[in-house]
Amino acid sequence: MALSDCRIIELPKIHDIRGNLTFVEGDRHVPFDIKRVYYLYDVPGGSDRGGHAHAKLHQFMIAMSGSFDVVLNDGDRERRYHLNRSYNGIYICPMTWRYLDNFSSNSVCLVLASAYYDEADYFREKDDFMAAVQALKK
Ligand code: TYD
Repeated sequence: MALSDCRIIELPKIHDIRGNLTFVEGDRHVPFDIKRVYYLYDVPGGSDRGGHAHAKLHQFMIAMSGSFDVVLNDGDRERRYHLNRSYNGIYICPMTWRYLDNFSSNSVCLVLASAYYDEADYFREKDDFMAAVQALKK
């Protein structure tokens, strides 16, 4: 998997004067079965989140409210994405280093994930991640 596999996905939007509705179905709108949902909220201005990679986990992040940036690095290339729409999200494939910054006030980041929380799936150190990426290329 590489940065080119990660992408912004536009979700269905049911426009209604009573309020819009968006939905996400696993294996349809996102390329994995959804096993876990978590969200970041009350993020103080100026703080960073993330700063890790996952070996096997697939994730999809949506700015449910407000906005923030997601910076992705596959060991070769880095790209910054700005999320600010409730009907757009970013698919993050396994073996992608990520961090989140530039949170607006009252922003909420919803994350859909392909597996239960498992600390053993994390690369917490960037050097370990880079070494694992190089090893996969051999
Ligand atoms: P972490 O994934 O490092 O957060 P972020 O990438 O947003 O900075 O998780 C922060 C803490 O929360 C860490 O102690 C693990 C715990 N955690 C769970 O217990 N379950 C979960 O589903 C997640 C995502 C984190």
